[in-house]
Amino acid sequence: MKAVAIASYKGGVGKTTLTANIGAAIARLGRRVLMIDLDPQANLTFSFYRPETWRTDLADHRRTVKAWFESWRPETTPPPLAGYVTTPSVVNAAVAAGGGTLDLLASHLSLGDIEMDLTARLGGARAHRSTRYYFDVYQRLATGLASFSTYDYDLVLIDCPPNFGVITRAAIAACDHLLIPARPDNLSTLGIEHLMSRLGRFVWEYNRVAGLQSGMHPAVKRLEPRVLGVVLMMVQYYGGRPTSFLRPYIHQASGLGLPVFESMLRVSNRSFAGAAGTQLPAVLSADLPPEVARELISLVEEFLRRVGAASRMAGPSHRPVA
Ligand SMILES: Nc1ncnc2c1ncn2[C@@H]1O[C@H](COP(=O)(O)OP(=O)(O)OP(=O)(O)O)[C@@H](O)[C@H]1O
Ligand SMILES: [Mg+2]
Repeated sequence: MKAVAIASYKGGVGKTTLTANIGAAIARLGRRVLMIDLDPQANLTFSFYRPETWRTDLADHRRTVKAWFESWRPETTPPPLAGYVTTPSVVNAAVAAGGGTLDLLASHLSLGDIEMDLTARLGGARAHRSTRYYFDVYQRLATGLASFSTYDYDLVLIDCPPNFGVITRAAIAACDHLLIPARPDNLSTLGIEHLMSRLGRFVWEYNRVAGLQSGMHPAVKRLEPRVLGVVLMMVQYYGGRPTSFLRPYIHQASGLGLPVFESMLRVSNRSFAGAAGTQLPAVLSADLPPEVARELISLVEEFLRRVGAASRMAGPSHRPVA
């Protein structure tokens, strides 16, 4: 089971769009995919459920990731995540023919409360390096994912909120891969630089605390997340080709030691704006413009290739800044 966190420091760069479309496309290929929505905005959840259905069928029945976090009792075996996972009907009807499934661990609009609880448990936003509860907080999701058997899912995709808070860090600690969507504009690429700096600092700190607590049972595994790459989203095309403005951004990402996906996704309001209302990601839509369909398929193929042969994250740019 591969687990991939889709993360970016910047909001609105296409994290949720990428998660929903990659998940649906891979489920259509006959694989078992689990998506986890860790963003209190719950946009991934509302891509597959109408808000009123979310409230009656999920939130009221405590089938959300927030309910799972709340049911956790320290120093006991956490409840299996499977009891909180749902199978959205519309999208699953569309992928069923190939034998695949697309499950979702839904978010909750009050997931921010959990973020605050976890931060408090660490002793505040800054004082968390070697507190007693460090791994209790940062290993929760990893322990939750370990409650699945290897036959349950081929792939887990975690849609992170647009920040590097404790929940995003716990997601990174639960994943072996990271995927970074970016809009080709200055703010978004600066966001990547910031993300990589914070990521490097967190990995360094986690492994340091793991080293200090080497007598712990079971032993804490070192974090070695691998960056699959940066995916350029919402690219403007002129005359059928991406603009030459892209080159500096590709260089900038490469300069940070990050691979950039050859496949990219163009701006297409027609394809993506209405997708949420249908509970079907664009990739499953019957009337997708052919060029967008081609780009999505090529992106998914490249994703699968890169997940199969991801290179290890390394290099000085991933050391803590201070
Ligand atoms: N290729 C595209 N063309 C046009 N619109 C797009 C495209 N990709 C995504 N969008 C739209 O852009 C908006 C932001 O995308 P999305 O929600 O995926 O970003 P995000 O990074 O998850 O945002 P947040 O940080 O708020 O969670 C959404 O309304 C989405 O439908
Ligand atoms: Mg999102």
